[in-house]
Order: sequence, then C-alpha cells, then structure tokens
Amino acid sequence: MTGWLVTGAGGMLGRDLVDVLSGLGQDVTGLRREDLDVTDAAAVRALILRVRPAVVVNCAAWTAVDDAEAHEDEALLVNGRGAENVAAACAASRSQLVHVSTDYVFRGDGFAPYAEYDCTAPRTAYGRTKLAGEQAVLRLLPETGYVVRTAWLYGVHGSNFVRTMTGLAGRQPYVDVVVDQRGQPTWTVDVADQIVALARAAPGAGVYHATSSGEATWYELAVEVFRLLGADPARVRATTTAAFPRPAPRPAYSVLGHDRLAAAGVKPIGDWRTALSRAWPVLTAAAGTQRRGGGSRAAQPRGMS
Ligand SMILES: NC(=O)c1ccc[n+]([C@@H]2O[C@H](COP(=O)([O-])OP(=O)(O)OC[C@H]3O[C@@H](n4cnc5c(N)ncnc54)[C@H](OP(=O)(O)O)[C@@H]3O)[C@@H](O)[C@H]2O)c1
Repeated sequence: MTGWLVTGAGGMLGRDLVDVLSGLGQDVTGLRREDLDVTDAAAVRALILRVRPAVVVNCAAWTAVDDAEAHEDEALLVNGRGAENVAAACAASRSQLVHVSTDYVFRGDGFAPYAEYDCTAPRTAYGRTKLAGEQAVLRLLPETGYVVRTAWLYGVHGSNFVRTMTGLAGRQPYVDVVVDQRGQPTWTVDVADQIVALARAAPGAGVYHATSSGEATWYELAVEVFRLLGADPARVRATTTAAFPRPAPRPAYSVLGHDRLAAAGVKPIGDWRTALSRAWPVLTAAAGTQRRGGGSRAAQPRGMS
C-alpha cells in the first residue's frame, strides 16, 4: 500500500493539499466530487479498495454554513454519512484516514483556546453535521483515524475572507467588518503541511487541531490585509455581529489549542500574521491583486468554517 488519496480535491483545501503532495514527489490521487461522490458508499468502497492508498484525506464537505440551516439532512449526508463511508472503506483497505473538521463543533463562547478533548456543543446545523462525521471516523477507525480540525481558512482556490477583502479594497472606500468574533486565520497550504506531517508521524489516533497560533478578529484580519495591500487600514471600520444577522449563528470565540500536534512533534504553523505574510506573495500572484479603487458597501466574513 502506497500513496495518498484526497477526496474533495476540487475544493480550496483539497487543491492545495494535492499540490503540496505532488511537490513532495508523493504518489497522490486527487478526486473531485465528479470523480467520487462520498455519499455513494459502494463507489467509495470500490475505489478505495482498488487504489489501496496508504493514506486517505477526506476534504469533501458541505461547507455552506448558512445553507445548512435549511438543508441539514443534505449537509448531513455529505458531512456525516460521507465521512462514515470513507472511514468504513479505509477500515476495509487498512488505509490511514485524515478527516478534516472544524472549530464549529464547539459552542464558540469560550475565553481560552479549545483543547482537542474539550466538550463539543455545535450551535449550527453545519457544526452538528461535521460532528457526526468526526464521531463516525473515531468509531470506525479507533487506531488509524485522525480528525484534523481547522478554521478560518484562506487560500488561492476558493472564496474566502482574505480574497473578499482584497477585492473590496480595490472597489470601495470603506468596509465594515465585525470586531466581536475571534479566531485564527489559517492558510490552506499550512494546513496541508500539517496534515502531511501528522500522517507521517502517525501518532495516536484521534482529534488534532491545525490552525495558526495567536488570535484575531475579522476586523483585525481585514486591517492586516489592507496593510499588506498598501491600502489605508483606516478604511476598515469596526462593526458588530448584530449588524450582520445570518441564518447560522457565528462563534464569538473560535480559538483552538494545538497541544496534541505539538506532542506528536509536528512543527506549529506559527503566528497568523507571519503566516499571512508568507502566504501573501502566493495569494497576490494568484489573484492579480487590484491595489487601489473606489465604491462603498459593507463587508462581512463569509463565516465559513
Ligand atoms: N474554509 C474554511 O474556513 C474551513 C474552516 C474549518 C474547516 N473547514 C473544513 O475544511 C475542509 C475543506 O474545506 P474547503 O474550505 O476546502 O471547502 P470547499 O472549498 O467547499 O471544498 C469542499 C469540496 O468538497 C466537495 N464536495 C461536496 N460534496 C461532495 C460529495 N458528496 N462528494 C465529494 N466531494 C464533495 C465540494 O465540491 P463542489 O464544490 O462541487 O460542491 C468541494 O470541492 C472541509 O471539511 C471543511 O469543513 C473549512
């Protein structure tokens, strides 16, 4: 058994993970939704048993947080049943599984970083469906299943907050951004690196947290994006969550602790500002960034997690 298999390989994280693995010279099969629908248990089992990868990384997910409120069953099919299908196939093929999950499994009203073993209490349909996926993986793969929770992702391949701010900075004089939600802005490439390092280290199975360290509000992240763009950070105005009602409530505090990855010897991603500076040349090269502009509208985080 050799190589890696990545599901959801057309998504923001999946695409970077496939690139990272390819760059490392690894044998990697990236499967987009059209190649493998994780809700199709028979197809998942047949494919994984045929390929027999050493490691499967499940990046496939229903990630539309607000839509999940009105479509929880459909979200559960992908995030719960889909994860279960992948885990069951990995059990049959004796593949290691890294399943990607989210800070939204927590209640999100804490005051200190959530540890890997802290009680989960999702407040959204999305969070509940992601928790169901975690539980299936841990139940079916008690020795070889890894749940990697991440949060506040940005990267070149999907719609995300950093990209949105970059676009708005070029179009609007001001953006209004929430100042009462805290988290850890995290580059998809850094998560991909952590996933690779974790699978290689193969420590005890279970839950791991992979985010940048430090913490920021969406407002602070927007200010940092404006600063990196050479735009006036005063054009970012602080507002509150109450000004942006959304179908799914957003966590006020979504900071994760990384003790288990550290104990496994995996180098931490490091501070979110430093990580964003490292990512910046890659992000701007990909986006062909506009550096100046006008317009006026409020902005809010996509709030995806
Ligand atoms: N983005 C964040 O801020 C964030 C934060 C915390 C955790 N996460 C987690 O990180 C992981 C990756 O997220 P992402 O940001 O890369 O999301 P993404 O860009 O939405 O990628 C998810 C991918 O899964 C695919 N997919 C959906 N249903 C599928 C199915 N039934 N079978 C196979 N593939 C399916 C999607 O395909 P289509 O586009 O064709 O639907 C998409 O390519 C997810 O587990 C997510 O919960 C993300």
